[in-house]
Amino acid sequence: MNIETKMWLVHASCPQEEQIQEAAAWLREGRTVAFPTETVYGLGADARSTEAVAAIFEAKGRPSDNPLIVHLADRSQLTELTASPEEAVLCLLDAFWPGPLTVVLPVREGVLSPLVTAGLSTVGVRIPDHPVARALIAAAGCPVAAPSANRSGRPSPTLAAHVLEDLGGRIAGIVDGGAAGVGVESTVVEYRDGTVYVLRPGGVTAGELARTLPDGVRLVMAAEAAPAAEETPRAPGMKYAHYAPRGLLTIVHGHDREAVLARMRRELEAARARGERTGALLLGGHAEAVPADHVSVCGERTDLELVARGLYAALRAFDEAGASFIVAEACPETGLGEAIMNRLRKAAGGRELHV
Ligand code: TXA
Ligand code: MG
Repeated sequence: MNIETKMWLVHASCPQEEQIQEAAAWLREGRTVAFPTETVYGLGADARSTEAVAAIFEAKGRPSDNPLIVHLADRSQLTELTASPEEAVLCLLDAFWPGPLTVVLPVREGVLSPLVTAGLSTVGVRIPDHPVARALIAAAGCPVAAPSANRSGRPSPTLAAHVLEDLGGRIAGIVDGGAAGVGVESTVVEYRDGTVYVLRPGGVTAGELARTLPDGVRLVMAAEAAPAAEETPRAPGMKYAHYAPRGLLTIVHGHDREAVLARMRRELEAARARGERTGALLLGGHAEAVPADHVSVCGERTDLELVARGLYAALRAFDEAGASFIVAEACPETGLGEAIMNRLRKAAGGRELHV
């Protein structure tokens, strides 16, 4: 695959009409266009067109059993796609749309390409809270299917440069509106029989959901649950290795930060002695605290919003540095920490140490 990838540079808060109209026309014509959202960059295509949606799967190298989120500009578009949501879901939409919340709802037959839903009877939908995304989707006038705009398995892109790095030559265009917002993807939820299941933790935290739900509605974190019970709903995408730098990443957990750093140093020294090129992810402090060829200091453990915003760029930097062995310190699993640790765990594929 080698097509020319066009770039449109736009102002994030007030995107130029001309650029948006051209990018939207490309979407309507069935081409693939990446754009910023308040979470990460998405790779968009007309969700009604099987040919257009097939180009997304092809460009990303995405398994065909992993459904795509459909992005809308306006809540009025929802009725065309799904049956009317139940009360508990409406509560969530009122509170978090536009914003980083995806709701999984029964899809109307024949309104979307079957590739979007990967054969499921449901569709994940959200209205992004980003002026560029909203303007583009509104101008396109169609529901826009958009997974994160990375090659399958890699960290999601938070800059247009990340999209270009992964998908340049494989997609028609990129609307560059600067850095995305939250830095981790939307929270994916599904409501069934009095329970809201969190299929993927993300930009809206469990605490925020719990505070919003009416009395009597349960909230269940399903993303980390054992996939034992057949009826346990899970986002199909969560079973794949994800968000991973090319080197092997190991997470180090512990309450005592000095002990965590000491263990990281030991692991790094041993790896260096084996001839590995080493990397370390620190959540705060100074890069000199550990002896690695490349150290990413990403935010502060006490400011998880900052950590989320920088996480994927930090993981990508290990690839640029050619790191083959990486240690990362864990953060507290409260608030956004839940989404951050969910992504780090996927990147680590089970390699975790406790001190
Ligand atoms: O923040 C986001 O959600 C970003 C931006 C671009 O909007 N998009 C994104 O899409 O993260 P993607 O494709 O990388 O992740 C979509 C997740 C996958 O885990 C997928 O399995 C799940 O949502 N999903 C989509 N439709 C679903 C459905 N009908 N039922 C269950 N899970 C679904
Ligand atoms: Mg993704």
